[in-house]
Amino acid sequence: MKAVEKLMKVFVTTKLPSEGMKILSTSGVCEVSLWESDEALPREELLKGVQGAHGLLCLLSDKIDAEVLDAAGPNLKVISTFSVGYDHLALDEIKKRGIRIGYTPDVLNDATAELTVALLLATARRLPEAVEEVKTGGWCSWKPLWMCGYGLSASTVGVIGLGRIGMAIARRLMPFGVKRLLYSGRTVKADAAELNGEFVPLDTLLTESDFIVVSCSLTPETQGLCNKAFFSKMKNTAVFINSSRGAVVNQEDLYEALTNGRIAAAGLDVTTPEPLPTNHPLLMLKNCVVLPHIGSATSSTRGVMAALAARNLLGGLQGTEMPSELTF
Ligand code: NDP
Ligand code: DGY
Repeated sequence: MKAVEKLMKVFVTTKLPSEGMKILSTSGVCEVSLWESDEALPREELLKGVQGAHGLLCLLSDKIDAEVLDAAGPNLKVISTFSVGYDHLALDEIKKRGIRIGYTPDVLNDATAELTVALLLATARRLPEAVEEVKTGGWCSWKPLWMCGYGLSASTVGVIGLGRIGMAIARRLMPFGVKRLLYSGRTVKADAAELNGEFVPLDTLLTESDFIVVSCSLTPETQGLCNKAFFSKMKNTAVFINSSRGAVVNQEDLYEALTNGRIAAAGLDVTTPEPLPTNHPLLMLKNCVVLPHIGSATSSTRGVMAALAARNLLGGLQGTEMPSELTF
């Protein structure tokens, strides 16, 4: 008689969309323990939940460092993050322990690019402010200069980090009549040729762009990249958009640039911290539009991300191929 194989232990730090849960619960490979609350997982619960786990499925808000890895112990084979960003993972510590990582690239490009374009348009054409005027009686007679913003037609757009999402954003912006696409980063991108994208030094991008979109990954080099010196090089009519990670921006410097007219407006899908406290100075500004990190938030995208994260986890548990493994 065949011995009953012991199921591997998996800790999932959030309620997953059903597409992911189904894959895990019908796999016959693992038993899942789950943080079921809608509240963010407290650190002590993460340290407790991960103990003895063979697999961890986590979110971008779960900081996975040496303490968590030590708490998990030697069983841990795989970390599957429900995100494409992996700045919350201590890569050196993970590598040292021979743990594999799964992540969710590509499947959220369209949703994130679409949201970034929506944020850019909302910020440049002052949509939240205009809606507020309608609701509060600020809408009087039609006036030539009231509620004027900035348009994309004949503009120069600069993308910092023309990766998967940056390219998807650029592809969507060009049909608005954008004249020039500039981009900066570490390497020239072959794809950029299809949009006549020009690889330029960051300073050139800052001084020549009417719209600046940040879509790079958060790394030690990009942390705090958008600071006082950065904003001081931008046109005072330029619009700044960030849908990468909050820590790429120095928010005090951004606040100053927005309040002293150094730049025209900013749209942020990501902030430090998240959530941003409701009394944060940036939220008091009419020329700053802040969204609650909803770049990939369409139901279908989140379903596909969940399925991919679950398959990555199973691949890691079984020592087989993972659909999207981070090689580092
Ligand atoms: P990619 O790896 O495809 O792109 C990242 C880009 O960042 C690359 O083009 C890279 O350039 C660039 N980059 C790296 N270092 C630097 C640097 N020092 N200066 C300028 N550019 C740099 O990732 P994705 O496009 O898939 O995702 C990008 C980021 O978007 C994620 O890391 C995540 O933080 C964020 N994100 C946010 C979402 C949201 O909800 N708002 C949703 C999804 C992702 P090079 O190739 O030359 O190194
Ligand atoms: C990511 O995947 O990195 C985003 O921030 C959320 O989808």
